[in-house]
Parts: sequence; structure tokens; C-alpha cells
Amino acid sequence: MTALVELSTAELRSLHEQLTADYDALVKRGLHLDITRGKPSAAQLDLSNELLELPGEHDYRDAAGTDLRNYGNTQGITELRALFSDVLRVPVPQLLALGNSSLTVMHDIVAQAMLHGLPESERPWSREETVSFLCPVPGYDRHFAVTEHLGIRMIPVPMTDAGPDVAEVERLLAEDPTIRGMWCVPVHSNPTGAIYSEEVARALVSLPAASDFRIFWDNAYVVHHLTDDVPEPIDILSLAAEAGNPNRVLVFASTSKITYPGAGVAFFGSSPENVSWFLSHSAVQSIGPDKINQLRHVRFLKDAQGVADHMLKHREIIAPKFAEVEEVLRRRLAPYEAATWTSPSGGYFVSLDVHDGCAARAVALAAQAGIAVTPAGSTYPYHRDPRDANIRIAPTMPPLSELVEAMEGLCTAVLLAEVERLVGVAD
Ligand SMILES: Cc1ncc(COP(=O)(O)O)c(C=O)c1O
Repeated sequence: MTALVELSTAELRSLHEQLTADYDALVKRGLHLDITRGKPSAAQLDLSNELLELPGEHDYRDAAGTDLRNYGNTQGITELRALFSDVLRVPVPQLLALGNSSLTVMHDIVAQAMLHGLPESERPWSREETVSFLCPVPGYDRHFAVTEHLGIRMIPVPMTDAGPDVAEVERLLAEDPTIRGMWCVPVHSNPTGAIYSEEVARALVSLPAASDFRIFWDNAYVVHHLTDDVPEPIDILSLAAEAGNPNRVLVFASTSKITYPGAGVAFFGSSPENVSWFLSHSAVQSIGPDKINQLRHVRFLKDAQGVADHMLKHREIIAPKFAEVEEVLRRRLAPYEAATWTSPSGGYFVSLDVHDGCAARAVALAAQAGIAVTPAGSTYPYHRDPRDANIRIAPTMPPLSELVEAMEGLCTAVLLAEVERLVGVAD
């Protein structure tokens, strides 16, 4: 088959006719499909149902004998911190086990920095004329929502397969002193699946920047592998300390996509100074996290090997879904050179780049056919994708048959949007 851009006007018109007929037939089917959000499927949630029976009627003390039913222990229980210390490469004293959402912790840290400033800040960030964050793109829409909501200016930085474009980060940091933060998803990034190389990690912790510049190292997908090709963990806090910037990195993770989203446990790790700073504020917000849920997670996951074994069961369920997405995209779009996409080795997303100027139209066409896709632009700050090209696909939630149907429909929508544009251009 010939690439769309190489088709003659007559060929484009005939393809347009055929795709319009296909699309009309699709709409008539009255589908209700959803590939918007990266949520685990019911089968994945079932993997953790033992949690619903834990920790058991008389099991409410930690190893030290503390009654976990009561208030207290703002740092979280030591057993769970020790378990995730191995997973996240953060020393136990510098790792906190907190509430049910890492996004909440990220939001709260940005809010506390706005209200009070960080240890090195001359004044609260809110008293600065402008505070800016670097936002690798495409990226996680909820990160961008936090900074937008709190009045922080967002500066996009292009992603590569090995993390953000370091030369661009260096250039921006050197020329713009208002930059105080950066969002990063270092392993199986949302949505591109990129894995930061150690070289990129070293550069990020070493580059000259404001003293209260912070990297939000959101390791949401640290154990969420789809293949045996498991990346070498990066001990980012040691790298930052070695580079003479021990306070630069804030590490986040959670069990949301290990056990239950919304009923899991979030983690925050950093330098001793940042952890004390965080606790000085969080101790005012809360008299301690849900330690019973933390104990439940210790009993269920047991140790780092237990986490790895559990994640293999997730992989068995979701790897075939990613394979189907790849198969449909390759079959439907590759022959026309209609798009490029990522083939991630982990995480929750496939990032699809269609022809410039066609993403919003394709998503709208899919929506009219009953296929909900994350709104175009969501992966960019302020929902502005300058090329209008990126579409995020979340394959995990729907059953396989529905996923394939949704992908077939989305491909029809993409092709129609692109041919419409080309026919328009050819006119
Ligand atoms: C990169 C990233 N960070 C954080 C979250 C949310 O984490 P939590 O459930 O711990 O708030 C998600 C969920 O999709 C995510 O993709």
C-alpha cells in the first residue's frame, strides 16, 4: 500500500469515500467503548482480593507491638517502608508510607512550597512573581493539572526514548531563573513508555539550577514491566547527593496499580532535610496515615520478591492487550504511514502520533462513534499540543474483545481525519 501523503487526489477521494462508508457503518453500531484512562481491569483488581480479608481480626500490631488501630506514626509503618525501600532504592529513614494517593502528596508538596517555600527558598513560591516547571511532553495530564491549578507556569520539554532532552533542559535552566520544578516519570513514562537512562538522570541532578529547584521523580511504574527486559534501577537520591544537590529530588510511588487504585498506599522519599521539611507540614495536616491498610499490604506483598511475583500476574493479563493494540495499529495504520506509536516494555499507555493537525479531529470522530479516547492535547500543558498530533491510548481496562473493537474504530477515525485533511489540502 502507498503512504497517504503519496496518494494522488483521485486516489485520496476514492479512499475518502470508502472510509466515510466504513465510518458511517461504525457509527450505526452504537458502540460504548472507553480507552481513556489508565485503570487496571477487574481481572487485575481480582489479583489483590486477598487484601479484603487482611490483616485479619486480631492482627493489628506492627513488629514493634504498636496498636495500629490508633492515631500516630506520621511516617508510616516500618515494615512497609522497608519493603518499598528495596523496590524504590530509598533508605528506610528517608522513605515515608503515607495515604492512598501519590498524586495527593505531589499536590501537597507543591502547595506547601507555594505557601511556605522549601528549605532553600528565599520566600514562599507564591511570593515570587513567576514560578515555572519544566514539563516533559507528551506527559501525564494530572501532573500538568496540579501545576496549572496552583498558578505555576509550565514549559514543555521534548521527550526522547531515554528521558527528557537534556540539552533543552540545560538551556532552559540557564536562561530562566523562575524554573523551580520539573515533572518526571522515569520508568515506563506516561504516556511514551520511555525509560530514563542513567546518563539523563545524572545530568538532571547535576545541571546548575535554582537552589530550591526540585525534580518530582514520580516512579509510578517502577515495577510495572511487560517484558523480561527490566531496566536497571536508578538510585536517584545517591546520584543527587554525589552531584552535590542532595535536596533536588523528591521520589514518589504508590501501590495504586500494584493492588488497588484509591485503596493502596503512597510513598514519598527524599533527602533527610526534605523529609523533615515535608513532615513539619504534613504533621499539621494529619495525625497519621491508614496504618491498617499499610499492614494489610505488608501481609499481602511480603517482600520485594512478592511484589515482583505479583506484578508478573498483572503482566500476564495486560501484555496480550498491548500486543493487540500493536497488531491493530500495525495492520491498519502502518501500510498508509498514517502514524507512529510507542511499543512500551511496561507502564499503562501507548502514545500514538498521527499526522499533524489530525489528533483532535480523530478523537472527535471516535467519540461520535461511541469510542471514548483521552481528549487530544491532554498530554501537553494547558491541553495545547502544538502539532495536534498526540493521542494517548490506555489498553488495560477494557476486555480484550472491546479493546480490539475500540482500536479498529479509532484507526478508522484516524485515517478518515487524515484523508479529510489531505483532500482539503489537495482541493
Ligand atoms: C505517572 C503517574 N503518577 C501518578 C499516578 C496516580 O497515582 P496515585 O494513584 O498514587 O495518586 C498515575 C496514574 O495514572 C500516573 O500515571
